[in-house]
Amino acid sequence: MKSLNPIEFVKGLQGILNAKVKLPASLSDNPVLQLLIRRRSVRKFQQKDIPDDVFRIILEAARLAPSTVNLQTWKFGIFNQESWQETFEKPIPFKGNRAVIILGDMHRIRRTMDEFPFKPLVEYTLSVINASIAAYAMNIAAEACGVSSVMLSETGKTGFYDAKYLKEKLGLPDGVYPVMTIVFGYARGKMPVMPPKLPLKSIVFSGTSYEEADENILREWLEQMMAGYRASFVTQSFKGKLNHYLKKVDQAERNLSKLIFYREEEFKDKIE
Ligand SMILES: Cc1cc2nc3c(=O)[nH]c(=O)nc-3n(C[C@H](O)[C@H](O)[C@H](O)COP(=O)(O)O)c2cc1C
Repeated sequence: MKSLNPIEFVKGLQGILNAKVKLPASLSDNPVLQLLIRRRSVRKFQQKDIPDDVFRIILEAARLAPSTVNLQTWKFGIFNQESWQETFEKPIPFKGNRAVIILGDMHRIRRTMDEFPFKPLVEYTLSVINASIAAYAMNIAAEACGVSSVMLSETGKTGFYDAKYLKEKLGLPDGVYPVMTIVFGYARGKMPVMPPKLPLKSIVFSGTSYEEADENILREWLEQMMAGYRASFVTQSFKGKLNHYLKKVDQAERNLSKLIFYREEEFKDKIE
């Protein structure tokens, strides 16, 4: 990935700042659509408590989420600042007020039904899909209550990158898969600007087969990502952030393989 020259940097920033999502006039005052557009991942929080009834309705949104055959293959570890500190010996990432660890859970299903043959990749995929949908439901319910959030797959050692650590720390049974953590709180300061989103034409196709996205659009997106990082973080670059993830990839892959193919004797060839 090459670095940005000053012109590309300015162009990248302009691209971010000029991006607007417009609702059609007939829907411009639709509160749900407005919320979907306004939602941002927030990483600065006020030291203000989320009331219990508000947090509860956020959890209810997860409980009522859709899932494959209504199997509800999920589990949620819920934390306030004290219980997080006690468990992980550090504050909730970004000093959030509450956190939820989202887990895909096939273990509970197996306790109720023994019909499921052991098909580890199917189980993993299915439970992660369902748990992720529930996570987004929480995210949106929180926004509707004026509570901001950020999903984390890596920061704070509490996402799928650190599945092995979490399995040990929380005593997770086989068939329970860490997916991500969501940190909740009331946003502090100005809402973040929308990061570069790819235009619709590069992520949809309407013909009979897959269409490649235009190379120029992809390059513009990357330049905007790099420019946005440079403008937002003095000490961090997009490349640096990416490298931070990549350094952990090998270990994460090995740990996840063990977690998914936990009946080792049947899947020796799949586990490094
Ligand atoms: C599954 C998932 C994992 C994420 N993990 C992290 C993370 O570890 N650290 C972080 O700062 N943001 C994380 N994010 C937030 C993304 O960076 C953010 O969604 C993306 O930049 C788009 O910004 P937006 O949510 O404001 O639209 C994650 C988001 C998702 C959906």
